Amino acid sequence: MSDNDDTPEMRGDRQVLCHIDEVGEAGKGFRLKGVYPSKPEAVFPIFLVPVGEDLHCYMNICPHQGTPLELKPDTFLDVNRELIQCSTHWAMFRKEDGYCVKGPCVGRSLKKLPVMVDEDGMVLFGA
Ligand code: FES
Repeated sequence: MSDNDDTPEMRGDRQVLCHIDEVGEAGKGFRLKGVYPSKPEAVFPIFLVPVGEDLHCYMNICPHQGTPLELKPDTFLDVNRELIQCSTHWAMFRKEDGYCVKGPCVGRSLKKLPVMVDEDGMVLFGA
């Protein structure tokens, strides 16, 4: 992100999120602006979770009741760091694909989003 939150830092068509070293073991959340050209002030909540060398990105909206998942900032995983956890009613989702394996929305999934890491280690949001 740039210092000015209203002006997203871009590389090509992709928005810069952070450096990969800034993504903690329990994930990292963002409230992006400028995702929708027609609504530049609209907030688009997302989060990243690392899985080995891979990085996955999801909308920070639980498919059960539409709440954000985390209780504390940048804390998206259960205590064992094995599953993504919703702090509202404790739904559990696989890190790799966002599929809910336990809780009130079993069989549904978090919305997965495209991210990539460039040669400088910057995490870029977008396809
Ligand atoms: S809102 Fe996430 S489990 Fe209910």
